[in-house]
Amino acid sequence: MQHNTTYIFAFATVVCAVCATMISVSAVGLRAKQDYNREIDRKKSVLMAARLVGDNDALTAEQVEEKFGSIRQVVVDLETGERSDMDPAQYDPATAGVIHPAANPAQIMEMPAKVMIYEVMDGDKVSMLVLPIFGKGLWGTLYGYLALDRDLQTIRGITYYKHKETPGLGGEVENPRWKSLWPGRKAYNENGDVAITVVKGQAGTVEEDPHHVDGLSGATITSRGVTNMLHFWLGEPGFKSFLHNYEPNRSA
Ligand SMILES: Cc1cc2nc3c(=O)[nH]c(=O)nc-3n(C[C@H](O)[C@H](O)[C@H](O)COP(=O)(O)O)c2cc1C
Repeated sequence: MQHNTTYIFAFATVVCAVCATMISVSAVGLRAKQDYNREIDRKKSVLMAARLVGDNDALTAEQVEEKFGSIRQVVVDLETGERSDMDPAQYDPATAGVIHPAANPAQIMEMPAKVMIYEVMDGDKVSMLVLPIFGKGLWGTLYGYLALDRDLQTIRGITYYKHKETPGLGGEVENPRWKSLWPGRKAYNENGDVAITVVKGQAGTVEEDPHHVDGLSGATITSRGVTNMLHFWLGEPGFKSFLHNYEPNRSA
């Protein structure tokens, strides 16, 4: 069957308009669900850092919400090192302001002026703090969480939820075996300086060698990136002054 040019253009226009409408409707309709899934992922990563959820646990969204029930969200102002009075439900990193820290080995050029941290509650007592961390690896920025005991010194866990490192090399930051080397290690030395370091090769036991963690083999640059970001976030430009003033027994 032969059609004239006007018919062909009209037909193509109608098909495009119908498809565009369908895509817009589904994008708008799915936005709330995508936001919810991102929220559940964030909560699950926090729970994994605190080792309240295992690496291989397949939890439903409801189970994540239930476990997250023991966690209090707090907005911290990194410029003052104080708790912000902002309602955590209103926190949005996109509007939290920006700090440009001095040149640093973690290669962080820009960071939010306010960040969300997490208090893991045991009854009415804080048992752990979970802090967001990020910094450069080999191929890009790694994003994760570090869980600290209420003594603000003993590491309880670490997890990375987003990175561009090579699977089998730097990507081993996700390996449960490597992550299991962290609990019990000490963040600071006796002088209060950040001391936790990913070494090249093997570290000793938690008791004998509390400030060192095994390096990722074939991934010295990623390993160094992990050290650098921990020194940044546990140090002056990060949470050091907040932790210094922190009172674990303070009520909400
Ligand atoms: C394809 C490819 C991917 C690599 N991915 C990583 C990586 O993700 N992280 C990393 O630190 N090194 C990675 N490397 C290795 C680095 O280039 C560098 O050789 C290494 O960090 C040195 O570590 P080593 O002293 O433990 O061997 C990769 C190398 C190649 C060829």
